[in-house]
Amino acid sequence: MSLILAIDQGTTSTRAIAFQLTSGDQPSDLRPVAVSQIELAQHFPRSGWVEHDAAEIWSATLQTCREVIRKAGGVSRFAAIGITNQRETAVTWDAATGEPLHRAIVWQDRRTAAVTSRLAAEGHEAAVQQATGLILDPYFSATKFAWLLDAVPGSRERAEKGEVKLGTIDSWLIWKLTHGREHATDASNASRTSLVDLKTLQWRDDLCALFQVPRAALPRIAGCAEVVGESEAELFGRALPIAGSAGDQQAALVGHGALKPGDAKITYGTGAFLMANVGDQPVISTRRLLGTLGYAAADQTAYALEGSIFSAGSAIQWLRDGVKLISESRQSEAMAQSLPDNGGVYLVPGFTGLGAPWWEPQARGTVVGLTRDAGPAHFVRAALEALAYQTRDLLDALAADGAPTLKTLKVDGGVTANSFAMQFVADICDVVVERPAFQEMTALGAARLAAFGVGLIPDLEAHPAEAPARWTPRMTADERKRLLSGWRRAVKAAIVAAH
Ligand code: G3P
Repeated sequence: MSLILAIDQGTTSTRAIAFQLTSGDQPSDLRPVAVSQIELAQHFPRSGWVEHDAAEIWSATLQTCREVIRKAGGVSRFAAIGITNQRETAVTWDAATGEPLHRAIVWQDRRTAAVTSRLAAEGHEAAVQQATGLILDPYFSATKFAWLLDAVPGSRERAEKGEVKLGTIDSWLIWKLTHGREHATDASNASRTSLVDLKTLQWRDDLCALFQVPRAALPRIAGCAEVVGESEAELFGRALPIAGSAGDQQAALVGHGALKPGDAKITYGTGAFLMANVGDQPVISTRRLLGTLGYAAADQTAYALEGSIFSAGSAIQWLRDGVKLISESRQSEAMAQSLPDNGGVYLVPGFTGLGAPWWEPQARGTVVGLTRDAGPAHFVRAALEALAYQTRDLLDALAADGAPTLKTLKVDGGVTANSFAMQFVADICDVVVERPAFQEMTALGAARLAAFGVGLIPDLEAHPAEAPARWTPRMTADERKRLLSGWRRAVKAAIVAAH
């Protein structure tokens, strides 16, 4: 029984990965032995609305888990389940039938923007941020929960009586895996709702009242490496303890082994999420970063500051699928390198607004500095360079918030295959960039939490079998300064154009 079943329920797909504990002289770590993945349908019923079918999420979870258990040699080899998930996405379901009452509202959904704007106008933002670490934004679950209860007739009254449940995806999966015996969420997911006190990691009645979310409908908050229940035996042929759970960015922090203050990771996906470990006390940002829980596992609690960039890999997708300057993403590296420099061209990828630290929802993609000799390579290079400039903006905000000095920046995600981009991140951020050989940090983090939860491993430390790829800064300070001032002028232009 040395395998862990990690469920990684993401925005675009649902995956299960079986991890095996290696043994030998070295301290053991987990390595993947089987994987299964199913794409998830995206629903856009109106502009700015994004929904998922929670029933589809559950059936894909079941299917991928069963396939992975079969591929890995049967359920008897597994010791525990770990869950990691897209965060903030809100689900509501009937406690008696276990059926969703509405499609899930996805974290990207902006339908409750008017509610958070009204709460900000009424002067609630400072108190909410002080309590939860989060700014007022429709991104977080609270206003989505309230919207769901208002949308389904009778559900608010039933929620107050405990007949209707609310939860994020982790909570939904725990409910389904345990056949409704457990209504639980882990503290990292709970810290993304706007309803949790970041210090005590408990629901706050005043916040539940402010956001109009009945306390009775919310799950119990558990630790990230706590056995919250056992999966129903008939699902996989044997009951397995659900022993680890964390939101996907937090799980990636654990996957990278970013366990000490000053450790930080950035995941470059469609967007990019920077998470920096700030130690065992929460930090409330003055630079519009998010104060959040990293993980709470046994007696170890790590808080984090987080910055989200809305367009990272999506800018490269735009080059490929939108303006068709490249036919494959990997061409971008050679094209960028074909130029001696950016020629003064900057691309601010505000396609869906700008996230941290700007939080400019109205901003749009902006290109500045075009001259007559600018060609496709300038656009490509500017899109790749923007990854680094945006990362630098987040690191500057972190430093201004007094976060511990960064030692290395650990990276994962598709874009990290691009060496030009990673060298440029190291150069512009003036920090060593490290990419682990094994990239599935999110699933690995969930597996490690679960392995720790059932006592298979003594702590959460990472012991990767292979050395990471490393990029060290080699740009002069003058050059960095010159490029950054060009970038800042470009961001200003994008923001001015939006208003
Ligand atoms: O906060 C949203 C984040 O958890 C989504 O991550 O990887 O599913 O896009 P991902």
